[in-house]
Amino acid sequence: MTRIQRFRVGYAGGPNCGVGHPAPPLSWLIETDEPGWRQTAYEMELDGTSQGRVASEQSVLVPWPTAPLSSREAHEIRVRVWGQSGERSDWSDPILVEAGLLRPGDWGAEWISPAQRDDEDASGPAHHFRREFEIDRPIVGARLYVTSAGINQIWLNGSIVGDALLDPGWTSYAKRIRYATYDVSDALVVGTNALGAMVADGWWRGFLTWDMRRNVYGDRLGLLAQLEVRYEDGTMQTVMTDGSWSTTTGPVLAADLYNGETYDARLDLGAWATAGYDETAGYDDSCWTAAETFAPAVGRLEARSGPPVRRVDYVDVVEVLRSPSGKVLLDFGQNLVGWVRFTVEGPAGTVVTLRHAEVLDEGELGVRPLRNAEATDRYILKGEGPETWEPSFTFHGYRFVEVEGWPGDLTPGDFRSVVISSDLEETGTFECSNDLINRLHSNVYWGMRGNFVDVPTDCPQRDERLGWTGDLQVFASTATDLFDVCGMLSEWLGDLALDQRDDGMVPLVVPDVLFWLPTAGWGDAATLIPWTLYQRYDDLGVLSRQFDSMRAWVDSVDAIAGPSRLWTTGRQLGDWLDPDAPPEDPGGAKVDGDLVASAYFARSARVVADAAGVLGIPEHQEQYGTLADEVREAWRKRYLDDGVKLTSDAVTAYAVAIEFGLLEADEIPAAVAHIARLAKAARYRVSTGFLGTPLVLPALSKGGDYETAYRLLTETSCPSWLYPITMGATTIWERWDSLLPDGSINPGEMTSFNHYALGAVGDWLHQVIGGLAPGAPGYRRLLVAPVPGGDITWAKSSLVTPYGLARCSWTLDDGEFVLDVLVPPNTEAEIHLPGEPDETRIVGSGAHRWQSAIPTGKATGEDR
Ligand code: BGC
Repeated sequence: MTRIQRFRVGYAGGPNCGVGHPAPPLSWLIETDEPGWRQTAYEMELDGTSQGRVASEQSVLVPWPTAPLSSREAHEIRVRVWGQSGERSDWSDPILVEAGLLRPGDWGAEWISPAQRDDEDASGPAHHFRREFEIDRPIVGARLYVTSAGINQIWLNGSIVGDALLDPGWTSYAKRIRYATYDVSDALVVGTNALGAMVADGWWRGFLTWDMRRNVYGDRLGLLAQLEVRYEDGTMQTVMTDGSWSTTTGPVLAADLYNGETYDARLDLGAWATAGYDETAGYDDSCWTAAETFAPAVGRLEARSGPPVRRVDYVDVVEVLRSPSGKVLLDFGQNLVGWVRFTVEGPAGTVVTLRHAEVLDEGELGVRPLRNAEATDRYILKGEGPETWEPSFTFHGYRFVEVEGWPGDLTPGDFRSVVISSDLEETGTFECSNDLINRLHSNVYWGMRGNFVDVPTDCPQRDERLGWTGDLQVFASTATDLFDVCGMLSEWLGDLALDQRDDGMVPLVVPDVLFWLPTAGWGDAATLIPWTLYQRYDDLGVLSRQFDSMRAWVDSVDAIAGPSRLWTTGRQLGDWLDPDAPPEDPGGAKVDGDLVASAYFARSARVVADAAGVLGIPEHQEQYGTLADEVREAWRKRYLDDGVKLTSDAVTAYAVAIEFGLLEADEIPAAVAHIARLAKAARYRVSTGFLGTPLVLPALSKGGDYETAYRLLTETSCPSWLYPITMGATTIWERWDSLLPDGSINPGEMTSFNHYALGAVGDWLHQVIGGLAPGAPGYRRLLVAPVPGGDITWAKSSLVTPYGLARCSWTLDDGEFVLDVLVPPNTEAEIHLPGEPDETRIVGSGAHRWQSAIPTGKATGEDR
C-alpha cells in the first residue's frame, strides 16, 4: 500500500490560506510498505480537473502545476503518485490553497494610529482599536487581512482571533512587513459585529539593543486591517481601517519586550470587542477617541513563509525557594522562554510583581546578566474573586521568578510557565546511553526553542535578543536536525538580503538595527546558510533567491582583499569567546583572526561557485571557482609553513583548514594529528570559540580520529561541552564558563545562559553518534555512518527528512554491533559500518539491519 502523507503547500508551518506566493511549490511524503520504492510520476488535480500526469521523481517543492494564482484565488488540490512497479497510490487528502493579497493595490485599508501620543522615552501602553459593522444576510466566507506597527492581538466579537503571538513578528519593517490572513467565516454573525485589535510596542518602537534605543522603526503604533466578507450573490463587503475606528488605552499600562508588561486589571475594558459596547460608558481612564490615519515607514506587505510564534509548551514550578534576603522564588527547573500565567485572589489594587532571571546569584535572583532588561511583569488586581493572567506583549528568558506582593499563601500550582517559540515542526530526535550527552542534546534543543522566536536570536533574556548572523551561521545545520526551519530561515535570509548594503556588506544582525562591520564568520551567513538549507531541504528556490546576496557578500570581501586574495584588514570578531580570551575581551582569541577571515573567504567563494553550478550559471561557477582556488592558494602560501604547520598554533586554525578544504587530502592526517596533540596538551578541554568549536569534531572525524573527538566531547572539567551540565545547565551557555566552577556568575559583561552558538555540536551528535547525515541534497541519499565511542553502548536518532522518516539505531554489546536503519521512500542510503570505513553499501527505502563485530569483524549484511 502506498499512501501520500502531509501533502502541503509552500514551507512547513506557512499558511494555506493567505499564501504569499503566486506559484507556491508543493511537497508530499510517501508512506509505503514496498521496499526500495521510487516515484516515477505524479498527477495533481485542481478542483476536480487533472493537471496531467508528470513523469518525475520529484516530491519535494514541486512546481505549482498551473497558471500563477491571483490574489484571493482559491483551489482544492490533491495529488497521487506512481511507483516504479506501476502501482498507483490513492489520491492524497485534498488541501485548500488560497492566495493572500499579492498586489499592493489589493489593499484599500489605511493605516490608523491613536490620536493620543505616548511618552517617547518610556515603554508605551497597549492601544485598543475597535469598530462595529453590520452584516445583513448570510455569508459564504470572510477573510481578515491584518498587520500592525507594533505587536498585535486581534479580536472579533469578543474572542481573540487565531493563536499567533507577537504578530506580525520582526522583519526589516521599512522594507517588508508581514500581514496575517485569518479565515473568520465562522466568527461573524448576521447583525452587528465588532472587530478590535490591541497593539503594543514590540520591536516596532520598544527598546532595542544594549543602548536601549526606542522608536527604531517609528514612534507611533499602527493598525492595518481589511476584512472581506463574501456573500452568496458574489458581492463582497469590506471593513477596513480608516478614520471611523475608535481607539483608547486600557489595562496594559506598559509593555516592552525587554522590560516586561504592567497590567492594571481594574482598568479592564470589559466587552470592548463585542457589538453594542458603549464607548462612552467606560472607566475613568477609558476614553475612546477617533483614530487618525497615518503613513508609517513600512515596506511591502508580505505573507509569512514559516510558522508564527505560538504557545508550544507549559512547565510547572518545581520548587518554591526562599532567598537569603527573604524573597520568594519560583524555580521552574528549566531555563525557558515565555512567561508566567498565574491565578491570584486578593484585594483590588494589590500589585503582584514577577521578576525573571536565568540563574541565582548567592541565592538571590541573578539579574546582572540581563543588563538593562528589567524583565519584570506587574499585575494589579481587580479584586473580584480569582483572576488568571498572563502577559501578551513581552517575553522573558528565565528559570527563576521572584514573586513580590502575593496576597495570602502562595502555592506552586498557582503558577505555570507558558513556553513560546516559532511553532516549527519538530523533525529530529536523538538519544544515547550517556545521560550527560542526552542532557547536552536537550540543552541544544531548549536553546533553539528559546532563541527561535520569529527571528533566530543570540539570546532571549538580556537587552539584546538580536538576529546575530554569526550565531546562526554556526548553528543552522544543527537547527535542521531538530526542526523544519526552511520557511523561517529562508524568510530571515530574505531580510538579510534586504538589509545588505549596496556594496554587499552584511549587517551584524538581521533585521539590522546595529551597524555594518565586515566580519568573517558573521557576514558568511549570507553564503553558508542558504547552502545549508539547500543541502538539508533540497530547496533550489532559496538558493536562487539568495544567489545575488551570496555573490554580493563574496564580492565585498574580494574588494577588501584585493589582488592579495587575503583579508587582512579591519577588526574581526574572530573565534569569539575563545575560553582563553579574557572576560573583558571576548574577541581576543588564540587563533589569528586574519587566518580565519581568509579561510571563510575561500569557503564562501567555493560555496558561491557550487551554488552557481547547481543553479546552472556556468559563468559564475567558473568565476567564483577560480576565485576560491586563488584565495586557497594565497591562504596556503601565507599561513601554511613547511609541511602542514600553520602560522597560528591553535585548534581553530587547523579545524578551518581541514573543514574548509584548504588542505590537500594527504595533508589532513598530519593536521588531525596536530589537533589531537593540542587537545591532549589541553587535557581535552575545549580551546575554541564560536567559529572553531563547530568544526573541531567534524575535522577530527574527517581524519578518522574519533578517539580524540569523543574524549573532547565527554570531558567534564571546565571548559568543555559537558562542564555546564555538571553545573546544572538546562540550556547552552554563551560562555564555556558562564557559571564559574565556584558557582558564581562569570563577571564578563556578556554572560547569557541561553545562547545556541556553542550548541552547534548538535550536528555532530546527530551525524556521528546518531548516524544520520545528508549524502545528497534533501537527504535524497542518506548517509548512515554511526561511529560508537566513549562509553556509549547504544544510540538512536530519527529525522523527518523532506522525503519522510529516517531512523538509525544501534547497539554495541560484547563487541557485536547491530545497526537498524529506516530509509524513507523515494530515497536511498549509503551505509558504512564502524570499522569498515571503506566498504560502502547502498540500499533502497525500507527497514534494514546489519550485524558486525567491532572493530575488524566482517558484517553479516542482510536486509530485513
Ligand atoms: C552576541 C553574540 C554575537 C556577538 C558578536 C554578542 O553580544 O550575544 O552572540 O555574535 O555579540 O559581537
